Amino acid sequence: MENQGKVKKLIDLRAQARLGGGQKRIDSQHSKGKMTARERINMMLDECSFEELDMFVTHRCVNFGMEQETYLGDGVVTGFGTIDGRVVYVFAQDFTVFGGSLSETMSQKICKVMDMAMKVGAPVIGINDSGGARIQEGADALAGYSEIFERNILASGVVPQISLIFGPCAGGAVYSPALTDFIMMTEQNSYMFITGPKVVKSVTNEDVSVDQLGGANMHSRKSGVAHFKTSTEEECLQLTRTLISYIPQNNMENVPEVECTDPINRLDDVLNSIVPDNPNKPYDMKEIIRSIADNGDFLEVQPLYAQNIICCFVRFNGKSTGIIANQPKFLAGVLDCDASRKAARFVRFCDAFNIPILTLVDVPGFLPGTGQEYAGIIVHGAKLMFAYGEATVPKVTITIRKSYGGAHIVMSCKQLRGDLNYAWPNAEIAVMGASGAVEVLEGKAIAKIENADEKSAYILEKETEYKDKFANPYAAAARGYIDDVIEPRNTRFRVIRAFETLSTKRLTNPLKKHDNIPL
Ligand code: HXC
Repeated sequence: MENQGKVKKLIDLRAQARLGGGQKRIDSQHSKGKMTARERINMMLDECSFEELDMFVTHRCVNFGMEQETYLGDGVVTGFGTIDGRVVYVFAQDFTVFGGSLSETMSQKICKVMDMAMKVGAPVIGINDSGGARIQEGADALAGYSEIFERNILASGVVPQISLIFGPCAGGAVYSPALTDFIMMTEQNSYMFITGPKVVKSVTNEDVSVDQLGGANMHSRKSGVAHFKTSTEEECLQLTRTLISYIPQNNMENVPEVECTDPINRLDDVLNSIVPDNPNKPYDMKEIIRSIADNGDFLEVQPLYAQNIICCFVRFNGKSTGIIANQPKFLAGVLDCDASRKAARFVRFCDAFNIPILTLVDVPGFLPGTGQEYAGIIVHGAKLMFAYGEATVPKVTITIRKSYGGAHIVMSCKQLRGDLNYAWPNAEIAVMGASGAVEVLEGKAIAKIENADEKSAYILEKETEYKDKFANPYAAAARGYIDDVIEPRNTRFRVIRAFETLSTKRLTNPLKKHDNIPL
């Protein structure tokens, strides 16, 4: 074949590969409101940056007449490209080829890009749209999944891994996304479950729709499996770019920096009066976050799950930082099982990838009751304490208002190696709130008082005495547990200066095989 003919053959083969399972199946994909694998990749990456690999790979299965049906690329599009000029490795399952089902060769393609990402230290982004293990391949397909899972595990904490769910993701297939750092889902066509509605019906006799069982709404509100939910695929792909902009390429890199256009010494007088005088009245912690972050921007993780705690990425003077903050607007900002797990995972992500942590505290304690105890609040709360205590990144804590009991300790207190622990003048740092404390300490004395007016006057007097002693930051500051009491309007500047000072922090944990976090 002459050169020209050879080049033409290449061009023809590429065109054939780009058609995946054929135009009819592409049309069917579009008719469901879904993009094809290559359309998704191209929309997510910088223009013209995608370099596709293994376009000519075909499956090797000869069962059930499969040798008669092969497609170039075999059900997954893989390669690398850039997001804002930074390298990322990608794979996108192609539903037009055997429903994106996972074959031995498809696994090999995915593993190849994962291995390359580990070698060069770059994030892996997987777009999932698949009918699960390729049924015709049996154990080969299962082994293929296992190869991917093992790589997900070894890559965890080395390079960021993000999973986008743009179609079915069922059975054991869910475990690759579950092993990654972030899962994103769209409101339509995106679902994840261990077993589908038919199996559920036969085993538990429940009637449940696909969306109820594993849709984006369920996973972002109830199970917490999904970290982000968007209306459309396009929005999700853009959100992936935003997420990538906050995180380093790998565990050896420092956080990404952008130019800061917001004055670092910007004061906000509103903060001086944002906390209501009545300690039982809520306020929106997000207003504080908006006020102190560069340009008021933040990217919230799991915004609809355990809303009593906020986990988000912000920038301070252009540098990415993770914020964990109690939200008094929801359940008074109490710590429960879900909030503890959510925050613990976020703290560990930040620590793994050198992202400094700011903690904003307004916590009345752990949520009491059988519901929480039966659900294991003891171990879930311990997860958060463990995560904070082992984290070696710069940690700045600001007590905004309440900080009581075990929850005070868990929320990045000084003794869990908090680097700089500040408090607002409104802070109340104590074992418990005034009324609870007076009940315990004065219960017997109170019971003896028969006259109702005298009783309430006595209680008030004792509560005032307790508040004067503990419902302020100065008792803790007198011991050095609080490094300084700061004026609220000056918080942005104090936080930025704290993190600048801590940017050269060096701290390592004792050598060990790995820890035994209370899972
Ligand atoms: C081979 C598959 C397939 C699979 C779908 N296809 N799933 N081929 N193996 N697992 C093929 C179909 O035959 C069809 O081929 C094409 O993909 C599109 O499928 P449709 O059924 O026409 O599409 P749709 O109606 O949208 O339904 C999608 C679906 C359904 C809900 C995913 O296909 C389905 O239920 N598939 C089986 C799901 C499943 O049980 N998988 C195994 C899960 S267990 P043509 O030629 O018509 O285009 C598992 C274990 C993993 O994955 C363990 C890991 C440890």
